Amino acid sequence: MDEMKDKVCVTGAAGFLASWLIKRLLSSGYHVIGTVRDPGDEKKLAHLWRLDGARERLQLVKADLMEEGSFDDAITHCHGVFHTASPVLKLSADPKKEMLEPAVEGTLNVLRSCKKNPSIRRVVLTSSSSTVRARDDFDPDVPLDESSWSSVELCQRLQLWYALSKTLAERAAWEFCNKNGIDLVTVLPSFVIGPSLPPDLCSTATDVLGLLKGEVKKFQLHGRMGYVHIDDVALCHILVYEQKRASGRYLCNSSVLDNNQLISLLSERYPSLPIPKRFDEQLRRPHYEFNTSKLERLGFKFKSIQEMFDDAVRSLVEQGHIDLSLISP
Ligand SMILES: NC(=O)c1ccc[n+]([C@@H]2O[C@H](COP(=O)([O-])OP(=O)(O)OC[C@H]3O[C@@H](n4cnc5c(N)ncnc54)[C@H](OP(=O)(O)O)[C@@H]3O)[C@@H](O)[C@H]2O)c1
Repeated sequence: MDEMKDKVCVTGAAGFLASWLIKRLLSSGYHVIGTVRDPGDEKKLAHLWRLDGARERLQLVKADLMEEGSFDDAITHCHGVFHTASPVLKLSADPKKEMLEPAVEGTLNVLRSCKKNPSIRRVVLTSSSSTVRARDDFDPDVPLDESSWSSVELCQRLQLWYALSKTLAERAAWEFCNKNGIDLVTVLPSFVIGPSLPPDLCSTATDVLGLLKGEVKKFQLHGRMGYVHIDDVALCHILVYEQKRASGRYLCNSSVLDNNQLISLLSERYPSLPIPKRFDEQLRRPHYEFNTSKLERLGFKFKSIQEMFDDAVRSLVEQGHIDLSLISP
C-alpha cells in the first residue's frame, strides 16, 4: 500500500461504480468518507466493510441528493470529492422528479457543500458518454471527443431521460464551478462492464446478465454502444484527481460495438451461454466512434472488451447469477 493519502468523499458509496472506486481508493492509501442514503442498511453496505483497509480508513455517512446541505458533514474534512451518485436508467413514471431533479439539483447541492470547504483541491464528477453522443448532427467519419455535447432538444424530443439528466447535470456543474472557482474535472464513462461488488445488481449490470441469459429487449435499444471496464473507470477517476495537469472532460471508453458485433464476440467466447443469435438492425442510428486520446495522453491504457466481460461473467458466476456449468469447458 502507498503512503497515507488525502481524505476524499465518494457520494453514492453503495453503488456499482462507487463501490469499486472505493476499493481502489482504499488500496492506494486514501481515507474515504462515503455517503449513503441509509447507513443502517447492513446488508446493502456489507461489501464495503469487507474491503481491505475499510475498517481503518472508511467512514459511511448519511446524505441524500435532494436534501439541501445534506453533504456538508461528509465533505467538510475532505480534500477531494468524487461525485458519482445519480439515478441510473430507471423506468420512471415521473422522470423529471425521479431522474432530472436528483441529477441536476443533487449535483448543485453537492457542489454547494464543496464551496463551503476551502480545503477542497478538486472535484471529480462522474458524468457519462451519453452527454456526448445523443445528437444527430455530427459527421460519422469523425470520432466524437470531449468537445461534443448531447443535444438537450433531441434528448427531450426522444425522451432520453438518462442522457438528459447527465447532460444537464454536467452543464450545471461546469457553470457552478466556473463561477465559484472550484477545480472540476469530469469523467465520461461509456457502458460500464465488470464485477459487481454489491450483491444486488444495479440496472446496467442487470441488463448485462439479461443479455447473457438470452434477453434482447434492453440491448436492442443500445444499437451501437461504447464499453469500458469498471476498474478502468475507477482508475481514471483517481488519475484525473491526482494529475495536476488533468483538466476539463475525459471520455472513458475502450471499444464501441454494434449489438451484433458484441453478441458474435460473446457467443464465441461463451458458447454454452444462451446469448441471442441476432439483433434487428436499428434504423436511423448514427454510426459513431469515440476519440479517447485526451485520457491516453495522461498515460492511460484501456482493458479489452474480452477482459471486461470475462471479469463480469466470473463475478456473476461467483454470485450465483449464472450457473458455473454453463461456462466451464
Ligand atoms: N453503469 C454505467 O454503465 C454508467 C455509465 C456511465 C456513467 N455512469 C454513472 O456512474 C454513476 C454511478 O452509477 P452506477 O452504474 O454505479 O449505478 P448505481 O449502482 O445505481 O449507483 C447510483 C448511485 O446513486 C445513488 N443515488 C441515486 N439517487 C440518490 C439520491 N437521491 N440521494 C443519494 N444518492 C442517490 C444511489 O444510492 P442508493 O444506493 O441509495 O440507491 C447509488 O449509490 C452515475 O453517476 C452514473 O450516471 C454509469
